[in-house]
Amino acid sequence: MRHSLTLALAAAAMFALLSGSASAQSFEGRKKCSSCHKSQAESWGQTAHAKAMDSLKPNTKAEAKKKAKLDPKKDYTKDKDCVGCHVDGWGKEGGYTVEDPNKFTTGVGCESCHGPGAKYRGIHRKAGAAFEKSKKSAPRSTLAEAGQDFAFEESCNACHLNYEGSGWKGTKKPYTPFTPQVDKKYTFNFDKYVKDTKAMHEHYKLDGTFEGDPKFKYHDDFQSTAKVGEKGSED
Ligand code: HEC
Ligand code: HEC
Ligand code: HEC
Ligand code: HEC
Repeated sequence: MRHSLTLALAAAAMFALLSGSASAQSFEGRKKCSSCHKSQAESWGQTAHAKAMDSLKPNTKAEAKKKAKLDPKKDYTKDKDCVGCHVDGWGKEGGYTVEDPNKFTTGVGCESCHGPGAKYRGIHRKAGAAFEKSKKSAPRSTLAEAGQDFAFEESCNACHLNYEGSGWKGTKKPYTPFTPQVDKKYTFNFDKYVKDTKAMHEHYKLDGTFEGDPKFKYHDDFQSTAKVGEKGSED
């Protein structure tokens, strides 16, 4: 028993090393995701996350900024104490930089929640084609191994709970200025927020190309009320 567990752990560690899962995941921006997932992309475009960079511009959200002791007239769009939580992949490979801003990583986009996509999007394409041909589904676990996130909560926390005293263990400067101390409405509650239609894209029916674990805890809920959407292809 113990021996096989050790072996399994060693194999897992080896796999992590070989696939470089922790370090070599690369952000690409939402262009490719959006061309295949047209409905989600369109819906996302209407959300607060999509417009997150606008909030850093001068003379926007003045009341909120004053309340958080920020200067409403200041341009914060290049301020490294701000930008990180209003874009994709800040400080990570392929992510947004102030020096070379990319419009497809501006705002809180697909990869901020679903994970950096360079490795898993190819699996979506292949599995989608195979499913169309033979209705054969593929395991979700291969997506997770390639860096796709099916739990979400830790990613949200990294932006929403990054302030002193939030109780989240990963806190690290720069902190968010918008904490429950400034206004109770900034209290982050994952189970409530993940269903908030102002900030989250709407859900569209999947064909069932992927199956098995890890599956998001509200996946079946969301799918049961999902709309019929429009798909696309990479080109
Ligand atoms: C990269 C940082 C980042 C990540 C990751 C992130 N958010 Fe956000 N979120 C923001 C920012 C910034 C705003 C404010 C956007 C604005 O108005 O400028 C926001 C706004 C929101 C709002 C709207 C709050 C309101 O004012 O009503 C909700 C709800 C929300 N996020 C939920 C989530 C959930 C759920 C997740 C994870 C699945 C998540 N967010 C992941 C940065 C992030
Ligand atoms: C650690 C991540 C983080 C950092 C750093 C950060 N923000 Fe944000 N910001 C957020 C999140 C999360 C929200 C959404 C809060 C909510 O509505 O619950 C937000 C919301 C906002 C809003 C909208 C508030 C509202 O009520 O509509 C403005 C404006 C804003 N941020 C500006 C800034 C500025 C300016 C800075 C730098 C001084 C900054 N942010 C730094 C995460 C961050
Ligand atoms: C703030 C976090 C967040 C952002 C940003 C985000 N998503 Fe999602 N997305 C989710 C969550 C949560 C689900 C529900 C997952 C499930 O049901 O398995 C989801 C589900 C999906 C699904 C499954 C079908 C559906 O509609 O539920 C697709 C496809 C998808 N997102 C694509 C995208 C694309 C493309 C973008 C960027 C244009 C994007 N997402 C941006 C959080 C996010
Ligand atoms: C070449 C087209 C293509 C690209 C590019 C692509 N996807 Fe997909 N994706 C698919 C197909 C096909 C499916 C299966 C859809 C179904 O079952 O109806 C899928 C499924 C998904 C799902 C649902 C997974 C589940 O739990 O069943 C999510 C979430 C998702 N994609 C997000 C993304 C994100 C984020 C990106 C960009 C990093 C992306 N996709 C890039 C074609 C693509």
